[in-house]
Amino acid sequence: MKIPIATSLRGELSVPGDKSISHRSVMLGAIAEGITEVRGFLKSADCLATIECFRHMGIEIDEIKEENRYTGLQESVLIIHGQGLHGLREPLEALDAMNSGTTVRLLSGILAGQSFHSYIKGDSSLQKRPMKRIIDPLTQMGCRIESEYENNCLPLEIYGGKLRAIHYSSSVASAQVKSCVLLAGLYADGPTTFFEPYPSRNHTELMLAAFGGNVKAKVDPLTMQPGAIIYPGTALRGQKLRIPGDISSAAYFIAAGLIVPRSEIILRGVGINETRDGILRVAKAMGGNVITRNVRMEGREPVADIIVKTSKLKGTNIGGALIPALIDEIPIIAIMAACAEGDTEIYDAGELRVKESDRLSAIVENLKNMDVDVEETEDGMIIHGAGGKKKRARRAPGRLGYFKGTVVDSLGDHRIAMAFSIAGLISDTQMIVKDTECVSVSYPAFYRDLAKLANPF
Ligand code: S3P
Repeated sequence: MKIPIATSLRGELSVPGDKSISHRSVMLGAIAEGITEVRGFLKSADCLATIECFRHMGIEIDEIKEENRYTGLQESVLIIHGQGLHGLREPLEALDAMNSGTTVRLLSGILAGQSFHSYIKGDSSLQKRPMKRIIDPLTQMGCRIESEYENNCLPLEIYGGKLRAIHYSSSVASAQVKSCVLLAGLYADGPTTFFEPYPSRNHTELMLAAFGGNVKAKVDPLTMQPGAIIYPGTALRGQKLRIPGDISSAAYFIAAGLIVPRSEIILRGVGINETRDGILRVAKAMGGNVITRNVRMEGREPVADIIVKTSKLKGTNIGGALIPALIDEIPIIAIMAACAEGDTEIYDAGELRVKESDRLSAIVENLKNMDVDVEETEDGMIIHGAGGKKKRARRAPGRLGYFKGTVVDSLGDHRIAMAFSIAGLISDTQMIVKDTECVSVSYPAFYRDLAKLANPF
């Protein structure tokens, strides 16, 4: 796709529902008793994959339309007919997680506790992603889980059944691994604990508690690592949920509002859970004019409107406990850093090598092609921002001399495609982003929403 240069971004937007929370609503709705109604569900390829997996296990999931009582607009509501913790049926076909790591890792935790056999497959990107991180704890719990090609990757065969409670310390901070263990813990013979180096997103814990599960945040008394404990034995009950806007999707427009000249954007109803709000903290540390207004709760998740204005950015350092709170936002943060004055160092981000693509190398390669001064490290990168350098003379409006346009290889990775599309709005010459259909994984309406704000698009 050819990305037009934008002279300004103005207006307001409601970004689509949170991907992580949407997945969890289907999973918990399916194993709860009674009906779960979900408003604001993200109808993206990843979340639809989760729905299909549960349909293959006998869960009826319908969509109805209703009028939103505040806006008067038609809104879709997902109706999940939950069958209780033991009500799933043995799937007759392979469960296809497609491109979605969240689907395969969380689903595996549930499948480990079922008294049937299942088989999970995924697309070529998902087949390369590490599954040992869930195979290990599930095996310790007594589940037989096999990687078909014995490479600790998909496809996986799961022979579920009775599970033992475990006390597990994960070497990676991962909400997917934590959620897998906690969901398996629903089926264990005693309380299961999970600890990790830094706190990862806590949507599973919050939603499980809303459904009546007995789960609590817990710190390991020996290592002081954060984590959670789940006590099995309580039934889950269907709920009415509203999914907040996805801060990971809002991040593209937060960055765009900061770097495109003469911009002012309002993003409505964005989830600002403190385990996810790293992008806001970094934007502010970089000197960005970002204001959160009208903070309120939607269920157990905090939500706010975010106002962003064009700002002069400066470099910052990003590592340690901050990384899990912005793990999916690093591609777009790298674009902000390229426009900033001074250096930005990103470290402790080795997990990015095992996402939908090796995001560290994808970011660095594409930035280098744009003439950005950047160095790749084992677990991150150092970006020498061009914001402070003397601008080259006589730019057309909107052209700031931070980087040149190029042909960006998104590697079919949605977050790379969206981040570099935002860069294209202010590149010196035309940016072309390849394989942009992949945005359907998390944000099918991304280019339509961008067109609503960008002048011209
Ligand atoms: C997710 C957790 C994160 C994130 C992914 C969604 C989730 O992965 O990168 O996009 O929904 O739990 P890890 O927790 O494995 O880092």
